[in-house]
Amino acid sequence: MTILVTGGAGYIGSHTCLELLTAGYDVVVFDNFLNGHEEALRRVEKIAGRSLRVVEGDIQDKVALVHALRTYQCTKVIHFAGLKAVGDSVSDPLPFYKNNVFGSITLLDAMAECGVKSIIFSSSATVYGDPQWLPITEDHPLTVKNPYGRTKLMVENILRDLFHADPSWSIGILRYFNPVGAHPSGLIGEDPRNEPTNLMPYIAQVAVGLRPYLRIWGDDYPTLDGTGERDYIHVVDLARGHLAALAALGAPTLFSVNLGTGESHSVLEMVDGLKHASGREIPTERHSRREGDAATCYADPSFAKSLLNWEASLGIQEMCRDQWNWRVNNPNGYDT
Ligand code: NAD
Ligand code: UD1
Repeated sequence: MTILVTGGAGYIGSHTCLELLTAGYDVVVFDNFLNGHEEALRRVEKIAGRSLRVVEGDIQDKVALVHALRTYQCTKVIHFAGLKAVGDSVSDPLPFYKNNVFGSITLLDAMAECGVKSIIFSSSATVYGDPQWLPITEDHPLTVKNPYGRTKLMVENILRDLFHADPSWSIGILRYFNPVGAHPSGLIGEDPRNEPTNLMPYIAQVAVGLRPYLRIWGDDYPTLDGTGERDYIHVVDLARGHLAALAALGAPTLFSVNLGTGESHSVLEMVDGLKHASGREIPTERHSRREGDAATCYADPSFAKSLLNWEASLGIQEMCRDQWNWRVNNPNGYDT
């Protein structure tokens, strides 16, 4: 079975391509390399001992999508491609709506034209807004606070409307909590092109000496140590969640599932974890809260367990070990 993976050269996409190849799927990556790396795909092939096909293209280009779907006879799509920097989405929203919303519509249109009606979509816990209860279950109200989040919720709504109109589709919406870590080989990982805004890549860059210190955004939250708490999930667990979701797309269906661990860890716990994994000092500076941040956020992962028979198995120790292993072996990412 051949899977078209949009955004397959990115962080989560590359780890998922590796799991797909290892499980025996054929993979076609469709990526414009805006934030992805060809070197990541070469390394995926090296670890898997199998090759994949790469189509350089933009998901806003329907002709190129139709060509790729037909040429390689793809039967299912995993759709990662998009922009994800929340701050950029506030200062410059149009590229987000074009890439994430128009790009997704174009992809769905191309799929419909080719009779390919199975898709997994990368959504985010950001669609829950400020948690009204914890752990967050899938029936939590959906509200968004920034243009990036709005693009995710818009695409979710488009997928629900599509299924309502044509229930022959198979659609899996996966709401990721906080993906971190890297493949244990140390060969692939997250390589942000700009200064990271997410916690773990930032801490790893401090540990390796690329940045002087970590700014802790708020130490006065009503949490155990005053810093924000999140549900960090190892990217390899997350990638495996996509294979479980793919297996559930055998018949027409529509589901929305949390992919998280069900546990939360504070900023200070993650700093300690990386200190331990690296044996390095991690200087920190305390700052006021970052606008838009919730105190605590974590998933109820039980629906994923019952529906997909999937649950996360890697803990904070493995997340910190692999985050460090990737960064220390590739201090400048794929340019190392
Ligand atoms: P990433 O930036 O590493 O990967 C995205 C990939 O999509 C890149 O390879 C990029 O080159 C490609 N791309 C972007 N626009 C494209 C376009 N128009 N046409 C073709 N390719 C395009 O991001 P990631 O962390 O791997 O995230 C993957 C998906 O998961 C995204 O949709 C993101 O919004 C979502 N998500 C990520 C997180 C996270 O913390 N990483 C959390 C929740 C949801
Ligand atoms: C952020 C995004 C969210 C996205 C998620 C996963 C914002 C407001 N939210 O959420 O939309 O879905 O990433 O990609 O950007 N922290 C620091 N110092 C740092 C970085 C982070 O103290 O330099 C703290 C934050 O305050 C937070 C925790 O670390 O408490 C995690 O932050 P981050 O990795 O950015 O993830 P989220 O805030 O969950």
